[in-house]
Amino acid sequence: MREKPGIQHIISINDLDRSAIDTLLDEAKVIQQATSIERSLDGKIVALLFFEPSTRTRMSFAAALSRLGGTSISVDSIEGSSISKGETLADTIRVVSGYVDAIVLRHPCEGAARLASEFASVPVINAGDGAGQHPSQTLLDLYTIREAMPLDGIDVGLLGDLRYGRTAHSLAHALSNYDVRLHTIAPNGLELPANLVEQLKEQNTEICEYDSMEEILPELDVLYVTRIQRERFPDMASYAAVAESYRVTPEALGDVKESLAILHPLPRAGEIDPRVDALPYARYFEQAQNGIPIRMAMLQKVML
Ligand code: CP
Repeated sequence: MREKPGIQHIISINDLDRSAIDTLLDEAKVIQQATSIERSLDGKIVALLFFEPSTRTRMSFAAALSRLGGTSISVDSIEGSSISKGETLADTIRVVSGYVDAIVLRHPCEGAARLASEFASVPVINAGDGAGQHPSQTLLDLYTIREAMPLDGIDVGLLGDLRYGRTAHSLAHALSNYDVRLHTIAPNGLELPANLVEQLKEQNTEICEYDSMEEILPELDVLYVTRIQRERFPDMASYAAVAESYRVTPEALGDVKESLAILHPLPRAGEIDPRVDALPYARYFEQAQNGIPIRMAMLQKVML
């Protein structure tokens, strides 16, 4: 089945060019600064189909929709849906399309959101597809950076599991729209996928790889930390080989720029020492809160 014309899906951050991204960030800013919110989605119903665990994405989409006057209905696991009885994702999406005005989908398989968009008769927003992409996270990441500094002319470090970390993939793609130098620091075997590095280079993004964060920390404007994606490893032995291989501590931050912004999509699992939370560099809780205005802007974009 082909995607229906005229429906606005948000599946990959690559579906949005710089102008579309900037417009969404500007709209989120207007929403965040507004003293009262117009109930622009009054009467709209959104399905939150979360076939993988989530706290931030699911709850902030629900809260964002509620603030705009809409209502959400949800499925929170494969076991709690008829997919556990053998129903295909395609059939599920066809059926749910008949109940709601938009679908927000999180799924363990890369490409699931794109597939869903081909069977949906309402807009689909990708809320994370396996090790693929997480565009709403990326928009709130960009928003958080832009609140702290211009998005052009900065050095951004990506630290952690860059192989399986979909937030790092989406963010790297998004930053290729801006004049940003990327610095990657990953444990052995968890580097950014080679095809992604190639794409970034083709888009003229400067990208440089490091063995340790200490080598590059003093140059960075943004340090984007991710956890090791334990659930995506083929076995526990290969996870154990890289677990706890990096940790951002106050001691490691002794020689950084005063304006350094440390971001993390959360949840964290030990890779940022809680003592960092009290330092001015820590932006990750503010970042999570920015999920509300960003997701409000996204919901309006696909439904209005
Ligand atoms: N950052 C993020 O996607 O968090 P959740 O898995 O809690 O939604």
